[in-house]
Amino acid sequence: MTFENVLFDSENGITTITINRPSKLNALNRKTIQELHDAFKAAEEDVNTKVVIVTGSGEKAFVAGADISEFADYSVSQGAELASQGQALLFDYVAHLSTPVIAAVNGFALGGGLELAMSAHFRIASDNARMGLPEVSLGVIPGYGGTQRLPQLVGKGRAFEMIMTAGMINAEQAKDFGLVNHVTNQEELLPLAEKLAGKIMNNSSVAIAAAITAVNAGFEDGENGYDEEITQFGKCFGTADFQEGTQAFLQKRKADFPGK
Ligand code: COA
Repeated sequence: MTFENVLFDSENGITTITINRPSKLNALNRKTIQELHDAFKAAEEDVNTKVVIVTGSGEKAFVAGADISEFADYSVSQGAELASQGQALLFDYVAHLSTPVIAAVNGFALGGGLELAMSAHFRIASDNARMGLPEVSLGVIPGYGGTQRLPQLVGKGRAFEMIMTAGMINAEQAKDFGLVNHVTNQEELLPLAEKLAGKIMNNSSVAIAAAITAVNAGFEDGENGYDEEITQFGKCFGTADFQEGTQAFLQKRKADFPGK
């Protein structure tokens, strides 16, 4: 697949989606958000893709935020529409994919960049990464889910401090906060993401999709995560992956999941 601002590469069950506007530190303009939607959709629909890795091109930035030049003269209604369309097309879309998404944060992840990383199912970072939600320094607030996902990941007090000060935290602080799971050097970042993807791919993709649905349900308004867990747990018993996983265990062999 070819895009203007996104690179798309599928190999050995892993699709790597790279935001590719390095001259603008990979800032998310509308076109890039649409292209990212199309790229994630293509990965989700590809039966061979078991894990998606999202990262930024260049050595400086994952994504330095929404493209400020694009919304600087927006009205109230255009501002609301920007947030709602972006959330639907990209941020909620990624969070609800049934294919696991790992964000490999390779530099600045600010504003919409951190919001994109937080939409992924989990995050790793290179040691030069800097993360923050600087929107209030521009007179606006995070609009791509940041006011919700940051407190979920780091706790309300830390999230308020990051949002109110508009400051950046480094990779080690992000790890202390639970915002990223692992920190490594820049050269090792994608290999680490691929190693984690490899561990994920040993397991049942159907069960992983069910787990994503159950975990997400606990964070949705009007949904009961425990009820969703029961539903998804039950459904697993009707899958070929469950048959294979349990039989392989009983026969003392490695499972070869059909992914159904
Ligand atoms: N939107 C649009 N353009 C952006 C951008 C953004 N969020 N972030 C960076 N860019 C552009 C810069 O305008 C510059 O473009 P130019 O060369 O055409 O002038 C280019 O990317 C390089 O950025 P620059 O600011 O020169 O790099 P730096 O190393 O001096 O600073 C940052 C890096 C990340 C600290 C700085 O770019 C920044 O503060 N960006 C905005 C972060 C932000 O507020 N994001 C939230 C948006 S809601």
